[in-house]
Amino acid sequence: MVGATPQRPGSATATGQQVVIGATGAAGIEGMPPFNTTTPGHISVMKDEVLDFLALRYPGNFLDMTFGGGGHTRAILEGHKDNTVTAIDCDPDAAPRAALLNKEYAGRFTFVDGFFDEAIEATPKATFDGVLFDLGVSSFQLDTAERGFSFRKEAPADMRMNPRTGTPAWKFIEEASLQTLETVLRDWAEEPRWRAVAQALHMAKGSPALATTLGLATLVGKHAQHTHRINPATRTFMGLRMAVNDEIGRLERALPKAFGRLKQDGVLAVISFHSVEDRVVKLFFREVTHTSEPIKIVKGMKVKPHAPAKLLLKKVGRPEKDEKATNARSRSAKLRVVQRISASKPSLPSAKIVLSETILDAAQGRGEQPSAAPTQRSAKSGQRK
Ligand SMILES: C[S@@+](CC[C@H](N)C(=O)[O-])C[C@H]1O[C@@H](n2cnc3c(N)ncnc32)[C@H](O)[C@@H]1O
Repeated sequence: MVGATPQRPGSATATGQQVVIGATGAAGIEGMPPFNTTTPGHISVMKDEVLDFLALRYPGNFLDMTFGGGGHTRAILEGHKDNTVTAIDCDPDAAPRAALLNKEYAGRFTFVDGFFDEAIEATPKATFDGVLFDLGVSSFQLDTAERGFSFRKEAPADMRMNPRTGTPAWKFIEEASLQTLETVLRDWAEEPRWRAVAQALHMAKGSPALATTLGLATLVGKHAQHTHRINPATRTFMGLRMAVNDEIGRLERALPKAFGRLKQDGVLAVISFHSVEDRVVKLFFREVTHTSEPIKIVKGMKVKPHAPAKLLLKKVGRPEKDEKATNARSRSAKLRVVQRISASKPSLPSAKIVLSETILDAAQGRGEQPSAAPTQRSAKSGQRK
């Protein structure tokens, strides 16, 4: 635990290792950019729906895997005076926001700075009554131009949630093979004209067009499919962000770990915003809600062993009309919830969705293999290939 000295949490761990903090100052430190606590706030998505499920376990200990602006964390802390929350975020700008919350809820709140699939190992509590993932980026990140997530303002095309480590988007493009770019564009960006956009990015290597958000968006806009609803660069930015932050890989690694930390009857809720994310969650939930053990014969009777979990939401949850109308970001949200019903160890999902090691290698700056592994996700015929 780190004390109350103002310091940039995690600054000593530029490689992305996590630091657990009970209290930190909100001020920046010399030589570092100021902490971003001033952009317009993030509106928590599907808060009421999530709380309905987590409240089944009040009072309890909860784990918020994606602290962001702390909206869900705060709601859980306010939900019962004896609730505690451990929250994780890899963004250095989240830590000072957590420090502010820590002042209000001292003794009931702990923040762990790191990637959730790694930082979960550093949580002081061993087991939890509920775990929440609210995936993707926050409005704080989207609205801070210099983070490079948005094409609305000029900034370096960075897109890292944790800029202390990893490879910025422009460098990822520079280092990726054409095949990797095509995979990112097709499977993660879900860009109908993935081939043309990948080719354009490949051809633009070494040019200033890739370096900044507006340059990149302009280039992509010339080749991507135009629809009346969204900027043509939206999908490509999403796909690049997913690659740069290894979003699918981290989710795949974190879900079994999070499930493994649930107490019996503990609840795992996941809000996702992308079809591939949702597919990873759906497959994992399918795995833990079905037993792979064979039927046993006990005292002459056939007994089907219990699966480790049951679905609390039979169908995927979607935001109410009102929420969609007032918070555009919520429109693509999907909520899935399971409850652990057995302490037995779950088997891990066997299906890999689209991850190829090559994409990860490029995202982490480790260079390319000669050819990218083929994706296992079938391309939508017609639109693709
Ligand atoms: C959508 S926001 C969460 C908002 C939050 N629930 C709230 O109500 O304010 C997602 C947050 O999760 C963080 N995040 C995403 N992927 C992460 C990962 N693999 N490890 C740690 N933090 C992650 C992002 O940095 C971002 O701050």
